[in-house]
Amino acid sequence: MNRTVQKLRSHVFICTNERMPNDPRGCCKAKGSEDLLNLFNKAVHDRHLSTEIRVQKAGCLDTCESGPTLVVYPDTIWYGKVRPEDIAEIIESHLIGGIPVERLRIAGK
Ligand code: FES
Repeated sequence: MNRTVQKLRSHVFICTNERMPNDPRGCCKAKGSEDLLNLFNKAVHDRHLSTEIRVQKAGCLDTCESGPTLVVYPDTIWYGKVRPEDIAEIIESHLIGGIPVERLRIAGK
């Protein structure tokens, strides 16, 4: 088994799904999710947490109306309408401190 995987503390999946501009469901990519993914990865890297926290892009997470959305495993905590300025709080409070950021959680998830 891969040693890096064994040491992971959290796995963050960020939806980067793209739809046609006229699709009524919209999509996370149009709401800036690719920038969010890159900035999240940079923030994790800058904190030297890359071996403990993995951030990856995901397809549609079926929470499109709340986009950009992400989910953190193994906690199964869902966040919606995440902005770049929320990244530090998610990392510090949740991924390091173990306290989810309630104001960003998707209701009912
Ligand atoms: S397009 Fe991102 S959750 Fe559906």
